Amino acid sequence: MSINSSNSKSSNKLENILIIGNGGRENSLAWAIQKNELIKRIYLLPGNAGSNKINKSERIGLDLSNIKELIKKLNSLDINLVVIGPETPLAEGLGEVLRNYNFDVFGPGSDGAKLESSKSWAKEFMKCANIPTANFWKVKSLEEAKKIIFKSPQPLVVKADGLASGKGVFIPDSKEETLSATEEIFKGKFGNAGEIVVLEEKIEGPEVSVFALCDGKKYVLLPTAQDHKRLNENDKGPNTGGMGAYSPTPLLTKSHLERITKEIIKPTIDSLLKKNIDYRGVLYFGLMITKSGPKVIEYNCRFGDPECQTIMPLMDKNFVILLQKCATGNLLGNEKIEMTDQLSGCVIATSKGYPSDYEKGLPINYGDIDLEDCQIFDSGTSLNSKGEFITDGGRVLSVVCQGKDFDNVFEKTYKNLKEISFEGMYYRKDIGHQVRKRNLNSMDS
Ligand code: AMP
Ligand code: GLY
Repeated sequence: MSINSSNSKSSNKLENILIIGNGGRENSLAWAIQKNELIKRIYLLPGNAGSNKINKSERIGLDLSNIKELIKKLNSLDINLVVIGPETPLAEGLGEVLRNYNFDVFGPGSDGAKLESSKSWAKEFMKCANIPTANFWKVKSLEEAKKIIFKSPQPLVVKADGLASGKGVFIPDSKEETLSATEEIFKGKFGNAGEIVVLEEKIEGPEVSVFALCDGKKYVLLPTAQDHKRLNENDKGPNTGGMGAYSPTPLLTKSHLERITKEIIKPTIDSLLKKNIDYRGVLYFGLMITKSGPKVIEYNCRFGDPECQTIMPLMDKNFVILLQKCATGNLLGNEKIEMTDQLSGCVIATSKGYPSDYEKGLPINYGDIDLEDCQIFDSGTSLNSKGEFITDGGRVLSVVCQGKDFDNVFEKTYKNLKEISFEGMYYRKDIGHQVRKRNLNSMDS
């Protein structure tokens, strides 16, 4: 799809921004965007209870599927740039719909979003471009899967092809477990998302997140990050959306980054171009650093959550300019937006029971929070009838702090977390263990 950016409404005006999404990620984007003095108003659709606390920001409510009403509203608010946060509206094509109405949009169309919305498409894309990734087999029936599972010397990783809110991946310990996970997906555990299954060779190594802001042709890298996907300390327990992160990660040396750029980032962008996909948004590379080098575990077509909350405080006020340049296809590729003297860390507080069932509506108490170099980004919160903050999601809020070393960063983060409470509140005490030197117990007890 080619986009004529000269048709866009804003003609480089940058006053009113719309952010679509309701998580901590979107609140942190608003927080970074408001830093620029050009910005007058940021609207979050729908946002959460924390959104209104962010400078220049307010929530709006609208049905995203009612395009006529949406366009009318965006015109009445004189929106100059739309930032689409979550994968679902991107996969459903909101990017191209808004671009067809001449809005400048940060976020790929449904064609580019396929990198996330179809794992088999992404794997075939990587295979064609010779991008390092785990070996895979795309299967459409249990019979087909059985042949591959029993021929393989190792138990294979099982993935539902489509979007499954981060729950569609199984890492089995035996062939029997591989088979039963495949069977469950084909029986409809994830609806249409499981019509195709991807079986994958299991690979090993630390995982890192790399983000490239793209304008279709050029890109700028954000600071790297490391997420903590498992629920419990020592990286045990079920996978979650992410329990905390830190940025940048020293796990990625300069030479790793050079290799990742040459073997992964550039070939990805070149291949998108070759497919005529005008990718204007963030490309999230979920990488594993294996013994034989970095490999792509997954692509996402959006910012990571909680990586975004972690990275946004490291951005200077020109971050929003960069988003606009991506949306309009005007990136130079050499822009600097990072405040390089700071490190950042984030810990997520969750509801009891997450990532399975959890209760909502529990009052949140905020004590004496030190907000110097520290932000609280709400993820799942709302207001009760008395206007008090209550829990409204599995991941409730993120506490993010910055400092000159990671001990200092996490000391502040955990100190502030102790000031926050709600019934059943849970958080991992060891976020950043990879980069913290000081005895963890002395900080967290
Ligand atoms: P994904 O949703 O594809 O990122 O997968 C979720 C998590 O499953 C990843 O963060 C990895 O920890 C793990 N995973 C996915 N694919 C593989 C693989 N081929 N080998 C080992 N672990 C994997
Ligand atoms: N933090 C992982 C994700 O956003 O998918």
